[in-house]
Amino acid sequence: MTNSPIILAIESSCDETSAAVLIGRQVRSNIIASQKIHEKYGGVVPELASRAHQSNIIPVVSQALEEAEIVLSDVDAIACTSGPGLLGALLVGVSFAKSLSLALGKPLILVDHMKAHIHAHFISRSENTETPSFPMLCLTVSGGHTQIVKLSSELEMEVVGKTLDDAAGEAFDKGAKILGLPYPGGPLIDKLAQTGDPNKFQFTIPETQGLSFSFSGLKTNLLYFIQKNQKMNEDFVEQNLADICASYQSTIVRYLIQKLSKSIDQFNPESIGLAGGVSANSLLRQEIIKLSEKKRVRVFIPTLEFTTDNAAMIGATAYFMHKENNFSDLSVTPNPRAIF
Ligand code: KG4
Ligand code: ZN
Repeated sequence: MTNSPIILAIESSCDETSAAVLIGRQVRSNIIASQKIHEKYGGVVPELASRAHQSNIIPVVSQALEEAEIVLSDVDAIACTSGPGLLGALLVGVSFAKSLSLALGKPLILVDHMKAHIHAHFISRSENTETPSFPMLCLTVSGGHTQIVKLSSELEMEVVGKTLDDAAGEAFDKGAKILGLPYPGGPLIDKLAQTGDPNKFQFTIPETQGLSFSFSGLKTNLLYFIQKNQKMNEDFVEQNLADICASYQSTIVRYLIQKLSKSIDQFNPESIGLAGGVSANSLLRQEIIKLSEKKRVRVFIPTLEFTTDNAAMIGATAYFMHKENNFSDLSVTPNPRAIF
């Protein structure tokens, strides 16, 4: 443990300001300040997100250090998200991390947010946390991305399938907006679906080639379905909310599992995993377990704390990069459209 670096990690790509301290892969603190301000706008307002990051960042970092029982001078490296994400939001985290790196004379590590979601599987709470074996296939489903990623090692990863338009998280969030639910809609649809009948209404599973996804048609499918039924009964949504949520959620999840299953047949992995905000979805978590049993592969599902945006996952990627001395110089800028 003594040779493990102490990493202070910062995440500010979207609407969560987060800071974490890791010693090696072991997480010592993971503070997340979620920005409630966006709820009433039905989506993240970039300008408001940047301002909220500005006011949150110092208290969040201070709390992370305090909980980890360390002081700034103990830190061996500073890590932060460089993209993808909102430019103004990323700038807050990157500028803060650069200043700390300069002031402390410690290296700066810039982390890709999507890789970090996958590295949530490598964060440990104890010495003996099991980690995935390779090759691994990870279904990364977040508010901005939907990817199937093939990993040959911790840092060697390749996107083998992705969405052509909306992300799975957007299908949840935009679907929720159509139903009059606040942002972010994913957790609410998940909750309401618990008491609904997933077979009550039929939505069409999108047809896309190979391992590609497309979610924009599904959202339109829901919109037309609601409009048609509201013409006959203006209380249709209120009277059927749980069944609509359950049916819509089940369509998204069946589609994701169908593609993941196809990728397993194609790449024959040793382990599979889920990552990103939508990996908090209870049906998706159940269905990937069933799929792993059917396909006889090991399955890794992140603990809920590490599903939505958090700095501990940024610290995990930074740990692997630190091992390779993969540091950034202080002239770097964020990359909002980063793709790996
Ligand atoms: O990874 P994340 O925190 O942020 C991005 O990097 O985008 O993902 C946020 C997304 C949102 O679309 C949110 O609605 C969705 O994750 N989400 C869920 C659940 N919890 C969060 N979607 C479905 N079911 C959930 N339980
Ligand atoms: Zn994310």
